[in-house]
Amino acid sequence: MTRSILIFLGAFAAISMSFTALALLPRLQLATVEPTPGTDAYTYEEQLGYEVYQREGCLYCHSQQVRPDGFGSDIARGWGRRGSRPGDYVFDDRHQLGTMRTGPDLHDIASRQPSQDWHLAHLYQPRSVSPGSVMPAYPYLFEVKKESQVRPSEVTVPITPKYAPPGDSVVVATEEALALYEYLMTLKLEELDQSS
Ligand code: HEC
Repeated sequence: MTRSILIFLGAFAAISMSFTALALLPRLQLATVEPTPGTDAYTYEEQLGYEVYQREGCLYCHSQQVRPDGFGSDIARGWGRRGSRPGDYVFDDRHQLGTMRTGPDLHDIASRQPSQDWHLAHLYQPRSVSPGSVMPAYPYLFEVKKESQVRPSEVTVPITPKYAPPGDSVVVATEEALALYEYLMTLKLEELDQSS
């Protein structure tokens, strides 16, 4: 009997200690993190794009964490003007930090590539703007239709002739492709003054 009480107490202590160290303390430590200047809550469209980013598994090839000088060569590679900070992620309910870097880090992509035409063409067919790219194409985020059927509110994507659909067909971005672009434009590391 005494032995089972000891086992119970030992197991209880082990579980409480790990819960405190792995869940409670990090939670308390991060509860007070303020958003870094320039980090805002997602709009409806950005949130939709964030969900498309997760669904398509962009995370499996792209990280979203720029290491500061002294911890790697990310800044020298042009992946950001500063290292990432906890406050950059406060509005992410499932952060996309990632560990794989088959493609470049995307935490500051909006600064180095703001063009909507470029991003949409790249998502439709990466090799049309980045020859030899191994990134998968996402053609199902687009519609191919006759030019005469395109409504004025729709966004057509300029594609180089090699990858463009034949005849008088054009590539039109779906709501999801446009939302994904809007989400990518939230990935921007604003420079901070030394004090912040
Ligand atoms: C199988 C790996 C892989 C997956 C999955 C992937 N990418 Fe890429 N991505 C790459 C590679 C490799 C490059 C570099 C070549 C290029 O520009 O296409 C790249 C480049 C990029 C760039 C340009 C980066 C720069 O610095 O110019 C963007 C933006 C991008 N990817 C967005 C995405 C998005 C959004 C998704 C998900 C919908 C995604 N990628 C999924 C491999 C991947």
